[in-house]
Amino acid sequence: MTAIRRGGVEDLEAVAAIQRASPGAAGWNVADYLKEDIRVAIVGDRIVGFLVARTVAADEREILNLAVAPEFRRKGVARGLVADALGAFRGSVFLEVRESNGVAQEFYKSLGFKELSRRKGYYDCPPETAIVMKFHSC
Ligand SMILES: CC(C)(COP(=O)(O)OP(=O)(O)OC[C@H]1O[C@@H](n2cnc3c(N)ncnc32)[C@H](O)[C@@H]1OP(=O)(O)O)[C@@H](O)C(=O)NCCC(=O)NCCS
Repeated sequence: MTAIRRGGVEDLEAVAAIQRASPGAAGWNVADYLKEDIRVAIVGDRIVGFLVARTVAADEREILNLAVAPEFRRKGVARGLVADALGAFRGSVFLEVRESNGVAQEFYKSLGFKELSRRKGYYDCPPETAIVMKFHSC
């Protein structure tokens, strides 16, 4: 069974390891996630996924990063993290995803996100277009 709770400093090593194993995820300094809303998914005593979000306005949230350890993918872990992070939230949720990251796009589409726009040259290392996706919950 997967449990989800707020992430803390004690989780950052595991979060960094998942991030390193997930080229599609953003590669930010994981310590910065403590300033945002970070949630971790746990199976047994292992951190198997994380999601970082922030509130932009009363009716607007943004998913900043999301990744699941490769061996725990396709088991509903990310779906559970998004449900936990957005829960009773009402409003618009935005995120950016690399154009080449078809798996993440399929994942977000499965939750009802739609492509909103494209930002050319948004990413570097390697340079790539970002697809902006939006979900509206009312
Ligand atoms: C994208 C990611 C977070 C999805 O995590 P996950 O825990 O495997 O996703 P879930 O098991 O909750 O999948 C939910 C649904 O998303 C879709 N989906 C997930 N992975 C998919 C894949 N490889 N191919 C097609 N659809 C997929 C399916 O509809 C799936 O439902 P189903 O399994 O009942 O068919 C994971 O693949 C990952 O960590 N990727 C690397 C990091 C990354 O790209 N992050 C995105 C940053 S924007």
